[in-house]
This record gives sequence, structure tokens and C-alpha cells, in this order.
Amino acid sequence: MSEQDTWKRAAAEAAIAEVQDGMTIGLGTGSTAKHFVDLLGARVAGGWQVRGVPTSEATAAQARGLGIPLPEFHEVDEIDVTVDGADEFDGELRLIKGGGGALLREKIIAGASRRMVVIADDSKEVETLGQFPLPIEVVPFGLPLTVTALSNACRFVLGREVELKLRQAEGKAFVTDGGHVIIDAHCGAIEQPEALAMALAGIPGVVDHGLFLGMAELVLVGGPEGVRRIGGMPARP
Ligand code: A5P
Repeated sequence: MSEQDTWKRAAAEAAIAEVQDGMTIGLGTGSTAKHFVDLLGARVAGGWQVRGVPTSEATAAQARGLGIPLPEFHEVDEIDVTVDGADEFDGELRLIKGGGGALLREKIIAGASRRMVVIADDSKEVETLGQFPLPIEVVPFGLPLTVTALSNACRFVLGREVELKLRQAEGKAFVTDGGHVIIDAHCGAIEQPEALAMALAGIPGVVDHGLFLGMAELVLVGGPEGVRRIGGMPARP
């Protein structure tokens, strides 16, 4: 395990203290969330009775393999807490997510949860969001028109041209679990994430974007000094 991976693991271990037997738990996507799902699987093997709500097919497969019960989505009316990774977070607990392409389900599930706990290694902490390309999920129909509208919106809010790239995987356009494609917007510093979020959300053809604002309640950051808590209530003893 690389040093960075041990920090991700430590953040995931700290997140286990934020969940309890009997809860319905949103399960994030990505290499950090994978550690959390592993650790939760071990609790289930030890007798915990939780229900998992996965944010991607990849996480669903992992959780199933570990014996974590996954109710059908229509059977879920309440989610106690979602634990997920992030590509970037700032001091106001604003996030960029979607590097793994699961942003839509991640946002639906986090938005329906009482709490969202983010787990990350300290490389994800930034002063200003935007060094990580912002993923924007769009419907394939009318893609060039949507890209033009995205370009105009980014220029209007950020005051400069932004490079927009159609995400590729294995030589083809990457397709999300929802059947959409992703445009990665190389924004640079996003001084006003709320303004950009609003402008992007108003474009027909945009399904969602990777700015998660006002959603995370606690960020657990793994690093050389251990795990730091940003936001949230004090840890349970
Ligand atoms: C998945 O779509 C993303 O939002 C991930 O949560 C994010 O990319 C963090 O992934 P890692 O934990 O692998 O860095």
C-alpha cells in the first residue's frame, strides 16, 4: 500500500466511527470510498445489520461481494449517512467530485442523506476549487450545442476561456452508469463556485455537474499527522 493509500485507509477507518449498526448508508465511489466499503463489509461479517446504497455499479459489485445488503433503490426512503471521496475540497467544505464518473448518482444519494461525510487524503485539500477539471455530465443528444453553451457559461462566470474536453475511455467517449457522457472543464481557480453551479445547472442538456456545495457536513482528511476533522460534530468517544 502506498503512503497516500494508507492515508485514504486511515480516513476511511475514521468514517467507520460515524456509522452505526442498523443504519442505511450511502456508499461512495473511488479508491478512498473503496476502503470504507471494505471496512464496512468487515463489520457486516461481524454481525452488523446495515443497508448499503451504492453510488455506482462498481461500488455495488464490491458491496455485494462483501455481503453488504443492498435494497432496491425504490425501497430506500431514508439514508442516514453517505460516506464518499472527493477530488477536491476547500475550507468551506465545498467539493469537486466526479473524477470517477459517478457524480450524478453520488449527488442524488448524498442529497437524500441526513449527513454526507467525505473521506480524503490531504492532497485533495485546496484553497480554491478548480485545479481538478470539473466534470459535467451531459446527455449525448445535441452535444456540440451543449458544449457551446457550457463554453459561454464558463466564460461569463470565470471571465476567461475554459478548455472543455470530452472524457475518453479506451479510445471512446466515456459513458456514465446513467448513459450520459462527461465534459471535463479545465477551469482553473473557481472563485465563485455557487455562481458557476447555477450557470451550469441552467443549461439544457446538462444533467449535473461535479460541484457539491453545501452538502458535506464533515471531511475526514488522512495525512502524515493522522486524521484531521474539518466541520461536523466532535468524534464519538
Ligand atoms: C467518483 O465519481 C468521484 O467523485 C470520487 O469520489 C472521487 O473521484 C474521489 O476518488 P478517489 O478516492 O479515487 O480519489
